[in-house]
Amino acid sequence: MASAQEPTTGPRLTQRRRAAGEPAHPADPAYLDLDALERQARELLPPDVVDHFAGGADRETTLGEATAAWRAWRLRPRVLTDVGPVALATTLLGTDVATPVGIAPWAHQAMAHPEGERATARGAAATGALVTVSTSSTTSLEDVAAVRPTGPRWFQLYRLHSPAHTDDLARRAGRAGYTALVLTADLPVLGRRLRDLRNDFALPAGLPLPHHPPADGTGPAPAGTPRWTTADIARFADLSGLPVVVKGVLRGDDAARCVAAGASAVWVSTHGGRQADPVVASAAALPEVVEAVGTEAEVYADGGIRSGSDVLTALALGARAVFVGRPAIWGLATGGADGVARVIGGLTGELAHTMALCGLDDVRAVGRDAVARAAWR
Ligand SMILES: Cc1cc2nc3c(=O)[nH]c(=O)nc-3n(C[C@H](O)[C@H](O)[C@H](O)COP(=O)(O)O)c2cc1C
Repeated sequence: MASAQEPTTGPRLTQRRRAAGEPAHPADPAYLDLDALERQARELLPPDVVDHFAGGADRETTLGEATAAWRAWRLRPRVLTDVGPVALATTLLGTDVATPVGIAPWAHQAMAHPEGERATARGAAATGALVTVSTSSTTSLEDVAAVRPTGPRWFQLYRLHSPAHTDDLARRAGRAGYTALVLTADLPVLGRRLRDLRNDFALPAGLPLPHHPPADGTGPAPAGTPRWTTADIARFADLSGLPVVVKGVLRGDDAARCVAAGASAVWVSTHGGRQADPVVASAAALPEVVEAVGTEAEVYADGGIRSGSDVLTALALGARAVFVGRPAIWGLATGGADGVARVIGGLTGELAHTMALCGLDDVRAVGRDAVARAAWR
């Protein structure tokens, strides 16, 4: 059985390279075994914490369909195209990133690893990936910024009990050098996470939650607190001085409303299947959102992205970048910053390899013609 110190992913070839002091080749297709990583994380963490991280809402239909929905598409490789080295770098709202695979905001990271968000930020830095810091982080947004003073990082905002406190967080993100503010719009109330209810799950006593005033706890703002509307997009852009990304959009008409109200990007997401259930999969919603937004704003997607070909499918359907949640959780839990870097590096390596196989050499130039629906489905 592997211990936490041993390489968490991959096969002997990768281990031999590591033992020889060589970096595992990022385009080695055998580099990342996410299932093995998850199995290892499950051995290291208490069962109720695993359930909390892995679980979804209600009957978990959305959760169960997420990856399959990307795999309802098939790649359409080009041949004889004289493909050079694959260019993986792109820009997200003007910020340079080395890979179109970013880290989604996820809460309470100190429950997965003592270094929590700091280690995630270091792992992202090692791979040149964008990291999104959650309102429900266990490290303050300023302390994460200190770990990664330069480089791409965004701050994710939840609507808290106190509107004044929420506004203050938006201003702090701007001051601390975050380059975009991500408004999570799919949490008007908390989804019914049945695994947590069955386990009577509670956050460990003393878990730091620096962005939640003590009286608030971590739940969503109660009834009576003003709800967010599209008018809040321009308001938060103004308060923070940052471009605003709206996360949790699953409909073309909503995407168009957000962009008309000043959003610089929309992020197609089911919140990892943890909110309304069953909802349309990100892979199914993405084409409609891309069509509604056109060239007016950037579009990203997350939910069930587990391989380089999933990433490529999302790019072909019009996403400029994708984000991962649970793979980063298992990476952090098993290997801290290195584990996070291995996950992002592994997915990026798989993407590069799959692109090379498909006759594609630039992530910014992947077209809709790169995929087709699986004909036999
Ligand atoms: C344990 C956990 C905590 C999460 N916390 C947040 C959060 O604080 N803010 C947020 O906007 N999304 C949160 N999400 C949703 C993720 O940002 C992302 O949308 C989702 O995990 C992507 O799906 P994947 O896990 O299949 O990659 C969380 C997801 C998980 C699994």
